[in-house]
Amino acid sequence: MSTSVLSRYRTAFAEALAQALGVPASEIEPQIKPADPAHGDLSFVTFPLAKAQKKAPPAIASSLASAVKVPGLEVAATGPYVNARFATQPFSSEVIDTARKEGPAYGHGDDGKGKTVVLDYSSPNIAKPIAFHHIRSTVIGHCLANLYRALGWKVEGINYLGDWGKQFGLVAVGFQEYGDPARKEEVGHLIEVYVKANKRAEAEPAFDERAREFFRRMEANDAEALSLWQQFRETSIRDFERIYSRLGIRFEHIEGESRYQGKMEPVIEEISQKVGVKESKGALVVDLPYAEGEPPVMLKKNDGSTLYATRDLAAATDRYERFQFDKALYVVAKDQQLHFKQFFLVLQKMGKPWADRLVHTYFGRVQGMSTRRGEVVLLDDVLDQAKELARKKVQENIEKGRIQTDNPEELSEQIGLGSIVFGDLRHNRTSDYAFDWEEVVSFEGHTGPYVQYAHARTCNVIRKGGGAPASFDGALLTLPEEQALLRVLARLPVVVREAAEQYEPSLVARLMLDLAAAYNRYFTAGNQERDKRILVEGNDALRAARLALTDATRVTLASGLTLLGIPTPENM
Ligand code: ARG
Repeated sequence: MSTSVLSRYRTAFAEALAQALGVPASEIEPQIKPADPAHGDLSFVTFPLAKAQKKAPPAIASSLASAVKVPGLEVAATGPYVNARFATQPFSSEVIDTARKEGPAYGHGDDGKGKTVVLDYSSPNIAKPIAFHHIRSTVIGHCLANLYRALGWKVEGINYLGDWGKQFGLVAVGFQEYGDPARKEEVGHLIEVYVKANKRAEAEPAFDERAREFFRRMEANDAEALSLWQQFRETSIRDFERIYSRLGIRFEHIEGESRYQGKMEPVIEEISQKVGVKESKGALVVDLPYAEGEPPVMLKKNDGSTLYATRDLAAATDRYERFQFDKALYVVAKDQQLHFKQFFLVLQKMGKPWADRLVHTYFGRVQGMSTRRGEVVLLDDVLDQAKELARKKVQENIEKGRIQTDNPEELSEQIGLGSIVFGDLRHNRTSDYAFDWEEVVSFEGHTGPYVQYAHARTCNVIRKGGGAPASFDGALLTLPEEQALLRVLARLPVVVREAAEQYEPSLVARLMLDLAAAYNRYFTAGNQERDKRILVEGNDALRAARLALTDATRVTLASGLTLLGIPTPENM
């Protein structure tokens, strides 16, 4: 796939400067910065050169400016800077043609060809309420999977279910007390049972001991205990699947902690040989120089049962053997930082050459996402509630004649999903944020529906204009709003790469907001009545150029929203 228009100009500018200076281009390229928009697009500052050559910066800048000639760049000196501006042509046509030619794959590339990334995301616990952090993990992980796949990486997405541990004991013994056998296949019911059993276990040690005993039977391969566990597990997976399909998520692998059941002895053995283990209060822990007050990495409890860390150590090794990954990302809440830091360190001490390829791509907390059902959050409820709020907005807008749709039901679902997913992804991954229902479903502001609406608007303009033209003259796109819009469009390929490198979906989300805003300014500015500005009457050439720009905007919004995991309705 072609390199982006922006990076092509950047490289050409750097090469021309390098040639004029007689130095390698690789030395200049990192020094090219965005220009002050009043003076151009790219900028090179001459202070360091002036110092070395003992000359005045403006003199160097002006002699460089006259030496540098790049087709499509207008180069000029401003004080100590050599600035370059993209000429209206061919820049306008290049940006539009690239977007339209690449279509849904605009912004993609093959940078990651031959490389593999393992992405551990979503990873809820079975028969336990799904928490906010699983929602974040699911939407962030989905977007990262899309970004890496778009850049040509082989993505091994793993839904690493919490399907092993004492909580099954709680559900099992809880079921004997509170369960309704007729509702055994209902996840909501299992969760109710879990919540009750968990409360009781906290207050009543004997009950807690029964749960532990059940889990011990599971670890000891007791057929009866395992068959009950298997049923609960299947019920939960069926339920999760429904949600994932609503979100358009497909995992390459759905497996869980139970995969490592009975396979942990060799790992413990290897750790004891290469790193060392010791006993602490009857438990087996890794012998590391722990900081004051730092809890040790436990491999086995005093009753011999294994732990989360033991299983993660086994899982990382197993994943490397299966996939020989170049990167392995764990999309897991910030609260688990210590866990990841510690188990990554153990792998390093074990001498695993791939240990430094593991990254805990953690995220902050969300406050306020609870639904009317109350304390127990089901992702399904969150999506349903968003859909309901979206339905109200859709209804209102239909009545006001602002939107047309022949399928308000489907549209409400799409907008609901857009609200939740965008409402999360627009925040920096690592920061905490407060979730606000009214805000996320609004059609205005920094929201998913706002961006979805801009996309539908481009579709609508194109429909009204009788389709997008095959050819057009980019030189006609001289309005400041057009030139500003083109510069936002051109950024998608750059931003997709930055977002993947920094594991930061918010960069794509923010570009989408900029893009929607730039298009809306274009659409509504001027005195013409709304879309008349684009569907110019009596000037076919201008109308064709503006429709082509609208089409490139449509493509870019669709590509970006799809990467975020958000549906792109054409009518709303
Ligand atoms: N199931 C865990 C939880 O809910 C998250 C698992 C994350 N992945 C991992 N490899 N530890 O907290």
